[in-house]
Amino acid sequence: MKRNWQTILAVLILAVATIQIAWVSNTPTATASDSDDSDSDDSDSGKGGKPVTHLDRRIDRHAKQTIAAGRHIFRFDTFGDEAFWGDTIKLHQAIQGKRFGGVGPGVSPNTALKVGLKVDVDALPHDLVENLKHGQVDLDDPATTLALLKLNAIIGVTGIFESGERLSSMGTQCALCHSTVDDSLAPGIGHRLDGWANRDLNVGAIINLAPDLSAIAELLGVDEKTVRKVLAAWGPGKFDAELLLDGKGFRPDGKTAATLIPPAFGLAGVNLHTWTGWGSVPHWNAFVANIEMQGKGTFFDPRLKDAEQFPVAARAGFDNIRNDPDLISAKLPALHLYQLAIPAPKPPAGSFNPNMALNGKKVFEKKAKCATCHVPPTFTEPGWNMHTAEEIGIDDFQANRAPDKRYRTAPLKGLWTHTKGGFYHDGRFSTLHEVVSHYDRHFGLHLSDPEKGDLVEYLKSL
Ligand code: HEC
Ligand code: HEC
Repeated sequence: MKRNWQTILAVLILAVATIQIAWVSNTPTATASDSDDSDSDDSDSGKGGKPVTHLDRRIDRHAKQTIAAGRHIFRFDTFGDEAFWGDTIKLHQAIQGKRFGGVGPGVSPNTALKVGLKVDVDALPHDLVENLKHGQVDLDDPATTLALLKLNAIIGVTGIFESGERLSSMGTQCALCHSTVDDSLAPGIGHRLDGWANRDLNVGAIINLAPDLSAIAELLGVDEKTVRKVLAAWGPGKFDAELLLDGKGFRPDGKTAATLIPPAFGLAGVNLHTWTGWGSVPHWNAFVANIEMQGKGTFFDPRLKDAEQFPVAARAGFDNIRNDPDLISAKLPALHLYQLAIPAPKPPAGSFNPNMALNGKKVFEKKAKCATCHVPPTFTEPGWNMHTAEEIGIDDFQANRAPDKRYRTAPLKGLWTHTKGGFYHDGRFSTLHEVVSHYDRHFGLHLSDPEKGDLVEYLKSL
């Protein structure tokens, strides 16, 4: 009996010592990741969660590897969508132009930058960066665009080259709409900012460059001229993810039915996604990759069988898409984790008045009751984060284009990065002052002018 106790005690001491060694040997990595977190996320999650066991370390390793894979997919994976962007609508022909075997004048870097495409400075060789700095690169020559494509430097666009020279097809990526650059070298040329909404990007104008939109016309059951008119109406920073479902190009008031591109950061902890709460991040990622980007994968959502709400989708069988091989499904887990890992960026110092923001926080939480829906720190409701048009005092056109016929409480972190194009799903309020005045009227808040000003500064500080 005594011998047994001694053995148990010895084992215990050994175990404690082992844990301590593991703890000490892990301290440097844990510290490094803590300091990484500190400038990007002010939530409490992670503190005290240092890896202790073998499994802990496996989880950390797995997360790191998965996030790296997700980053690559987000930036570079076309999911096989070149079959659409290249082979079907032949956008690559318009990009390279007649001189290189395509059609039309071709797209120069200046034209590309004008429609909001961005150039990744980290993909450029040193001498090209130097030449760009000294204005020694011809930005009016489509040949330069082709060179940039070969370097994989145009964000969200992949050129596929035949025998090294001719652009034979092209594909698009998530980063096209959900990344921009910091303009470090020149406007539109800089380091990648993944997750930021590209509010300069004129998707409609870009698709309109394609010589053959007959496939879209056929899908929608209209002529090509109508498709081009719809696309031309989108304007910068907007895209219509519901067009290929219900065929509605315009709202009843004649304005475009397209919505603003939202950011893809700060989404961890948020239940429903998109302006109208279509589903989770992986639901929407599968939706976009299969239906909008026209990649090759699997997608199942029987809500799209409703021929009254979604006549185009029901006709096309978008409720049940199956491709063999499936180039999307295996990428969803990494893509999911990567997006959840992108923190909302903090506003630069000096971009808001901190004292006013502090007062504004009180107004947000107390008198204006904003925080009843925009619950910090995600700034949306934990739970079913959806509201009717009536509740928030706007029309229901866009809400009715989604299964739940509601608007999702928009997460507000990083609001300062997407002030271009306005606020709410369609940018109907061009400033935060207008948003606040709308709520003041709609909820009868009786906010004073200083309170409104403070509230705006708070919104800018998120
Ligand atoms: C052509 C532009 C475009 C591309 C490409 C694109 N998106 Fe989006 N994305 C949008 C727009 C517009 C919305 C809003 C749709 C809506 O509310 O109806 C959106 C919504 C989202 C949302 C919801 C964000 C939120 O606030 O909840 C996520 C997440 C997202 N996209 C991720 C992706 C991923 C991942 C890819 C690549 C598989 C992708 N998107 C490709 C334009 C794009
Ligand atoms: C009843 C719930 C509710 C309340 C209360 C509420 N909001 Fe909202 N908020 C929403 C919804 C839903 C949206 C999305 C509207 C849309 O998609 O068009 C939104 C959108 C916004 C946006 C635009 C975000 C963007 O990305 O364009 C801002 C800013 C905002 N709210 C601030 C406030 C402020 C400030 C208050 C308090 C005065 C407030 N909200 C009160 C539900 C609410």
